[in-house]
Amino acid sequence: MPETSPLPDDAALTAESRPRDGQRFSPSAEFRASAVASADLYAEAAADRLEFWADQSRSLLHWHRPFTEVLDWSKPPFARWFADGELNVAYNCLDRHVLAGNGDRIALIWEGEPGDVRRISYAELTAEVKRAANLLTSLGIGQGDRVAIYLPMIPEAIVAMLAVARIGATHSVIFGGFSAESLRSRIDDAAAKLVITADGGWRKGRISPLKPAVDAALAGEPTTVEKVLVVRRAWPDDQELEWTAGRDLWWHDEIALMDADHVAKSFDAENPLFILYTSGTTGKPKGILHTSGGYLTHTAFTHRSVFDLHPESDVYWCTADIGWITGHSYVVYGPLANGATQLIYEGTPDTPHGGRWWELIQKHAVSILYTAPTAIRSFMKSGREIPQSFDLSSLRLLGSVGEPINPEAWLWYREVIGGGTPIVDTWWQTETGGIMISALPGVTETKPGAAQVPIPGISVAVLTDKGKKVGKGESGLLAVTQPWPGMLRGIWGDPDRFVETYWSKFAKVENGPLYFAGDGARRDEDGDIWLLGRVDDVMNVSGHRLSTAEIESALVAHPWVAEAAVVGANDETTGQAVVAFVIIRSRHSDAAAEPGAADQLRSHVASTIGPIARPRQVFLVSELPKTRSGKIMRRLLRDVAEGRAVGDTTTLADATVMQAIGDKLADKA
Ligand code: WT7
Repeated sequence: MPETSPLPDDAALTAESRPRDGQRFSPSAEFRASAVASADLYAEAAADRLEFWADQSRSLLHWHRPFTEVLDWSKPPFARWFADGELNVAYNCLDRHVLAGNGDRIALIWEGEPGDVRRISYAELTAEVKRAANLLTSLGIGQGDRVAIYLPMIPEAIVAMLAVARIGATHSVIFGGFSAESLRSRIDDAAAKLVITADGGWRKGRISPLKPAVDAALAGEPTTVEKVLVVRRAWPDDQELEWTAGRDLWWHDEIALMDADHVAKSFDAENPLFILYTSGTTGKPKGILHTSGGYLTHTAFTHRSVFDLHPESDVYWCTADIGWITGHSYVVYGPLANGATQLIYEGTPDTPHGGRWWELIQKHAVSILYTAPTAIRSFMKSGREIPQSFDLSSLRLLGSVGEPINPEAWLWYREVIGGGTPIVDTWWQTETGGIMISALPGVTETKPGAAQVPIPGISVAVLTDKGKKVGKGESGLLAVTQPWPGMLRGIWGDPDRFVETYWSKFAKVENGPLYFAGDGARRDEDGDIWLLGRVDDVMNVSGHRLSTAEIESALVAHPWVAEAAVVGANDETTGQAVVAFVIIRSRHSDAAAEPGAADQLRSHVASTIGPIARPRQVFLVSELPKTRSGKIMRRLLRDVAEGRAVGDTTTLADATVMQAIGDKLADKA
């Protein structure tokens, strides 16, 4: 155990910061004095939840046409927020800051992995988005059309998203780490007319190409895609790229022809803003649909109050890629709606050296840092000397997101990175659009490891399987009990799946239907909430969601594989890791017996879905544990993958299977 302890070099933690049962941290008087949030917010929301959200929306956003109705919940679970109001999301993120005299404020401090820096003011960003909006219009894109965005973390990614929003169209951002196949299935599902990509981006000191994946995705069967806009990021001008005449266009050539004047039209509050695909319990990713007014209200409010944003003085940095919901809500929409100054970084934390993030914080005087526990744990592993050799004194608030943060990592983050600054552990999901459960800095007394309390205006419950509230000190399933402004409005093209996935579990309970989040949770003695991880077949690897079924179907698509079962096993750094158990077809048993066969299968998954889905281990077995009805007992495989004694096997159709698997793995060891 000492060898795998998550705190290898931190016997040196001060007595004050060593985890103790029931440990809490109160906000300092100084922090409290200038905090954006106050306890009044809870009181206001409790007095009238809808009026609370309406007030937030009116004060944080500009409505071209004010709404009169706050929530229409007449056809649950299909909600409409602020439905008779009209706004322009991009105008809210750009023009109005310029009109208010803040055009010179820096919106984006961008640093590329090789160290190139661009500082872009709100006035410049506004002008660029106007040009891009004119470009999209000239390409025939308009309200209702879908645009796929497959870009690295460069300013053009944000420009592209805002330009799509500005003309009332809908974006679907696909993470640059996804394969051509994953890209194609998302393009097809949304029937995108345009793809915006780049030649490539910088990752780990090398150019990671993107355009070739777009070419591969669009090859073969005809697609709905008419044009491909290509940003030049990675290669010099004279580099030859595959080019499809009539389809492919250089972004910089086209943008240069465009006018920087563009009047933002207003759109309905419920105009679809984006689709973002996420993994569910089946093999097919779900296109989570978010709309405009409610989503922007939720992200602006939470970004301001949870991160205690003082836009005139803070430098905010959320390390998420725009390919994930965290990048949508807390890199693009929340921060820009609030007129924040933020850092964006293209590359990986370890390039060219392990202190790259800390160097960035020092150089750009970052004051608010929002990242994932998996990153924190990997920094802990490399030792506190690395961050301690940089000046991190500009930091005044830290955030965590994506998976439960263990108290040791929380305390290390607070002390080593923050030098005692407050931490907000924020629970939410692609589906919720914005933060749902989190401490409010300056208000909440925090507890290492717990997300704690729903934010003002959000109602959650921890329920038994039958929908009854659990008592203090008990665990159950997390549900959201009232509609909220940032909630997903559906699954693209599949209303039945939307109802079935999220609203059927607690459909029949009092005041239902309630939203079932898919997470387990515990209420402690104070009533605070601790998240316990997913209760379905969704895995969480480094804060990224992966579906067991999706990886299984990638594996069985390989000619060698007859059957596959995938589980998420605990992993010290990544939270969970993908572990696969595979049965090889007898006619391929020779090939599969060669050394490196398991690695070939791992690579196959990486190239089918994307490198994030690459299994940590693939075990070749002769049988899989199944119930009499043929359901794979993943629980038993998880026991094996986590190196535990195998649990109750009495419901197995064949009780000897687990023994056989154990023997097979012992052979290999
Ligand atoms: C799942 C949602 C929300 C943006 C990043 C992930 C887990 C998220 C926390 C947290 C414990 C968390 C949940 C959730 N999760 N934040 N603070 N504590 N678990 O978005 O890919 O939609 O994944 O991430 O299991 O259901 P996502």
